[in-house]
Amino acid sequence: MKIISVVGARPNFMKIAPFIHAIDNHNSQQVYPSKPQLSVETTNNKHINHLLVHTGQHYDDKMSKAFFRALNIPDADINLGIGSGTHAEQVGNTMIALEKVFEGEKPDWVIVVGDVNATLAASVTAKKLHIKVCHIEAGLRSGDIKMPEEINRLVTDRLSDLLLTPDTISVDNLLKEGTPKERIKFVGNIMIDTLETNREKASTLSIEKIIQDNLLINKPFKGNAGLVKAYALMTLHRPSNVDKKEVFGPIINFLIDEVAADMPILWPIHPRAKKQLGKFRLWDKVVNTENLILLNPLGYHEMLRLNMDATIMLTDSGGLQEECTILGTPCLTLRWNTERPVTLREYGGASILVGNNVERIRKEYHETLKLDKKPVRPELWDGHTAGRCVEEIVNS
Ligand code: UD1
Repeated sequence: MKIISVVGARPNFMKIAPFIHAIDNHNSQQVYPSKPQLSVETTNNKHINHLLVHTGQHYDDKMSKAFFRALNIPDADINLGIGSGTHAEQVGNTMIALEKVFEGEKPDWVIVVGDVNATLAASVTAKKLHIKVCHIEAGLRSGDIKMPEEINRLVTDRLSDLLLTPDTISVDNLLKEGTPKERIKFVGNIMIDTLETNREKASTLSIEKIIQDNLLINKPFKGNAGLVKAYALMTLHRPSNVDKKEVFGPIINFLIDEVAADMPILWPIHPRAKKQLGKFRLWDKVVNTENLILLNPLGYHEMLRLNMDATIMLTDSGGLQEECTILGTPCLTLRWNTERPVTLREYGGASILVGNNVERIRKEYHETLKLDKKPVRPELWDGHTAGRCVEEIVNS
């Protein structure tokens, strides 16, 4: 059996790493013919010949190569080098390049993960060539069609032959949309496999060293004097938060005037947010705030380590919402909706939706500071999802 997995952007890498390791594990358990007269077709038909394609949507070393290294992902067999651009440019260029790869390689399955532009491009291209598509992390729905990721999720799921879901809410979403039941398999959250595999290594890292090694701008801050005790950890990158000055500006003011007055804010900054701070002339203000510590995009273990001890997380990332659930870090999700409701407090998770309205963020910030860490483990977020994914593909 030949399969091609396609990845493009940072959040894909944490999902594909355990999948590739599970394929290796699967292949090592196959019984190969010991006698030459046995037909390879009949005895060895479950061996997986796997190719990894990187579309190149994320290309900075810190956004891509660092994750391949840290998570032991083998170098991609093919890198399409697509790079940045408008959505149409990214998707269109990726489809043109992928069509050649799929036509040449003729895989039995194309595996896509998550909801980035690479996910959409690969599923559409494969399906038009009548290649079976498997979507890992199927069925998530924010209900917000203005999110590019929601469009990617809807199209990918509609086209997929095998839909592997992280939770039962996703199963219900797919059933409501009319997806045939037999195509849907509840396997759990594959990203938690990566968290569990790497938790121990992350726990050995020094928070102070992570900060010192990754400072974007070398400036003194209170934590330099000794151990960093309480700190807020923040990430922001969604166009809905960083692409408009009237939204991003008040958030920045709130962070500087109120959160940074309480504790250091560690902010590994996404290239998009960095670019927008410059464009909106907010850069100097941010840089000159002593307790707002700008960091380069962090490696997987470094981010996990900071999350483990963070007093509070402020984020618009879906993956971090999920990691906060497992680690129990109280989390403010700076979005009005989420495709991952199991991470919310009303479902037992650690996170609350605060949108991007400063009044609401302020109120929930103060309430959230009163909460302790409370780790929660949703059903099948057990670190063994990748093996179940491989099993479902082999048996489909
Ligand atoms: C993409 C995903 C988003 C995911 C996010 C994680 C889509 C539609 N969006 O958003 O779901 O949460 O990745 O990071 O696929 N840039 C660099 N270096 C890089 C990559 C990007 O500088 O290695 C800059 C470029 O200026 C680029 C901008 O970041 O234009 C945005 O990158 P892009 O891949 O278009 O989208 P993300 O915002 O990263």
